[in-house]
Amino acid sequence: MSDVANPSSSSTSLHATTTLGIVGGGTVGGGIVSILTSNAPLFTTMTGKDLLITRLAVRDTSKSRDFITPEGCKVTDDFNDVINDPSVDTIVEVMGGTTLAKDCVFRALKNGKNVVTANKALIAAYLPEIESLVKSVNEDRNEGTKPVEFRYEAAVCGGIPIISSMQGDYVGDEVEMISGIINGCTNYMLTSMDRDGLSYDESLQGASDLGYAEADPTLDVGGFDARSKLKILMRLAFGVDVPEDEISCKGITDLTKEDFEYASMLGGTIKLLGVAKKLSSTEVAAFVSPAYVANDDVLASISGATNAVEVLSSNLQATTYSGQGAGRYPTANSCVNDIIKVCRGDVNPLPFNSKQEGVEFVNDFKSKFYIRLRYRDQNGITADCGRLCEEHEIGIYSILQNPIKNRNDAAFVITTDSVNLSKVKKFVAEVEGKSWCRGEAFFMPLLRDEAM
Ligand SMILES: NC(=O)c1ccc[n+]([C@@H]2O[C@H](COP(=O)([O-])OP(=O)(O)OC[C@H]3O[C@@H](n4cnc5c(N)ncnc54)[C@H](OP(=O)(O)O)[C@@H]3O)[C@@H](O)[C@H]2O)c1
Repeated sequence: MSDVANPSSSSTSLHATTTLGIVGGGTVGGGIVSILTSNAPLFTTMTGKDLLITRLAVRDTSKSRDFITPEGCKVTDDFNDVINDPSVDTIVEVMGGTTLAKDCVFRALKNGKNVVTANKALIAAYLPEIESLVKSVNEDRNEGTKPVEFRYEAAVCGGIPIISSMQGDYVGDEVEMISGIINGCTNYMLTSMDRDGLSYDESLQGASDLGYAEADPTLDVGGFDARSKLKILMRLAFGVDVPEDEISCKGITDLTKEDFEYASMLGGTIKLLGVAKKLSSTEVAAFVSPAYVANDDVLASISGATNAVEVLSSNLQATTYSGQGAGRYPTANSCVNDIIKVCRGDVNPLPFNSKQEGVEFVNDFKSKFYIRLRYRDQNGITADCGRLCEEHEIGIYSILQNPIKNRNDAAFVITTDSVNLSKVKKFVAEVEGKSWCRGEAFFMPLLRDEAM
């Protein structure tokens, strides 16, 4: 690594300094160093302070880097060197994971350091613990001492400033519903499947080649990455802490080209959505699932790796935030915004907004549904479906059937009237036991049409 000028390493500077320790020098960490280094004079003007990156932790110090380590910055493979350095006042955690990263963030906070992180998995797994640690650390600080800050703009939708919007722009408003395309990898894949007619495997390969997939793509295609982000947004929007695994989560692995043909027949497309809605003053419901989205819906036009979150609220009504949900510079940009706020002395005592007592999570929701059933042709299929729908109190809105090419393996689709997910699950379990039914049925909500 070569040493070059630290963002503000001028020996003649008369400004106060803020000292940063960065843990992680990969995609995001490298972007943060580059942005801070190239804009140092501007940031000094904005904050009145010189920003010094004095420590950097990486896993392998011998690896060559695609960014320049600032002059005077000590590089280590032990993040304890960074969080235990008394001269470092702000830790930027961009190494990822939930074990070592937890140690790093928790110990940094206990050491009285501000923390900026991009780590959605860590926050989703330990949100209440982080919240109470920040609170107790600040309660223990001497009167008149600036409280420690915990900032995480980059953790949800990378470059889109959705966290600061949820923290600051709805204070006199009431959020009713959030619907978002909050995983860029799967949106890229679904766009290639729909627009370019690629298969699931081809589109996953394309997303991996372009660096959109996580190291373990199950987190993307299984919907788990989206669920972590939805959980964080739910806390900010509704004040409710929901254990991640209680949120109904279906990924895109079971989608086929046929589903896009049927969605097109209905006048729309399919998106992996995270949706959360306030059902009443005491109940919130949520899901992560592929969903049918009509072509005239703003979310249908969000293509490729772009993310978008639509927030419906009483005063603002519908507001959509869209942009780059990942990537070096979009994500690093959000981290840098947090760093500047910390340096400037901005204080946010409630990084997750207030918790709303008495609001409960309900793991069921109401929507119109799309149910795709594979079958081998025989008499009585429609009668069976009609009878089972009636037994499960499911109103059939339409039945779609492409011309049959193979009588032993064909598919048709039922769209339903608005009904609870729990009823659809029971119907599907019974229908799958029929002799004509091949494999597992696939079902997903139709967004808007009374979703929830
Ligand atoms: N990439 C994105 O677009 C994006 C978007 C939003 C949020 N995020 C979040 O940002 C975080 C970082 O992501 P990334 O894409 O930058 O990851 P990355 O490219 O894999 O970089 C991780 C960095 O952490 C270092 N590291 C790993 N374990 C370490 C340890 N035990 N001690 C010290 N350093 C360690 C690695 O060192 P070596 O280089 O030596 O291996 C590497 O420099 C994650 O939480 C991720 O979820 C990323």
